[in-house]
Amino acid sequence: MVISGKTNVCAIIGDPVDHSLSPVMHNSAFNELGLNFVYVAFTVTAKELGTAISGARSMRFKGLNVTMPHKKAVINYLDEIDATAKDIGAVNTILCNKGWLIGYNTDGKGAIFALKENGFFPENKKLVLLGAGGAGKAIAYQLAQNAAELVILNRTRQKAEKLAKLLRKNFNRKVKGKALSFSILKKELELADVLINSTSVGMHPNIDCSPVPSDLLRSDLCVMDIIYNPFHTKLLKDAMSVGARVISGLEMLIHQGAVAFEIWTDCVAPVEVMRKAALNQLKKQGVYP
Ligand code: ATR
Repeated sequence: MVISGKTNVCAIIGDPVDHSLSPVMHNSAFNELGLNFVYVAFTVTAKELGTAISGARSMRFKGLNVTMPHKKAVINYLDEIDATAKDIGAVNTILCNKGWLIGYNTDGKGAIFALKENGFFPENKKLVLLGAGGAGKAIAYQLAQNAAELVILNRTRQKAEKLAKLLRKNFNRKVKGKALSFSILKKELELADVLINSTSVGMHPNIDCSPVPSDLLRSDLCVMDIIYNPFHTKLLKDAMSVGARVISGLEMLIHQGAVAFEIWTDCVAPVEVMRKAALNQLKKQGVYP
């Protein structure tokens, strides 16, 4: 890659960002398509978020990804928010158009594309989503528009109920919100086709935890986790051991990145190249065997 005076700069901002897979993923994609773009990572504290965004605006960055803990707060510094990101209340992608900053949320689309690429189309399917936090909300927002039935289960029941109510109001579809308890999980999983974990249960270092007791899993269930460290969470390992189809958290990460790539470049993202780059990086980090 030759950096020139015309190179478009994209970056991820968050705290921490040192283990982010996005730089290798996007730089490999830019290289593959011969685009004069470069992607870097910046640690930005909550206190410095406003000045960091001003800097990106003044220096005419082309795009930003926003990660923890800034996905909500960044909205205050943007010129325009896409309708989906506004409803979700969180932005993970910014397009900088000659200093005019537009916020998007590509997490939900990333999850849907990950499912579809693995042959699971939410139409005519019952999906059970665990978690109603930031990521869960983004995923639920997309699923509610596609799935035949969506059940959101969350440790804090009120959050699941509130989210389900908002989605029913917006999309007039079959969406329920309930507590994440054994009896409810058992009942809701009986007729479910797809189970998605968007809670942090099972994430490194708590790798021996799973949000679902293994005896509730079945071979005809598709199980997706949004955690990619460990690469196969306990939930996914349990699902594999009963013969269920599993989708790792890396898939959502790749596809949310691919949607962001397309927003910045107007080119079709080379998803396979992005996957290979992310997997290589995970191998270097010792996360992928
Ligand atoms: P993110 O942006 O990654 O979604 P978050 O907004 O903090 O992070 O959401 C974390 C999710 O994991 C929430 O759904 C949270 O449940 P609560 O809303 O009840 O906090 C869920 N979660 C975290 N720890 C959990 C645990 N030990 N058991 C069940 N759910 C848990």
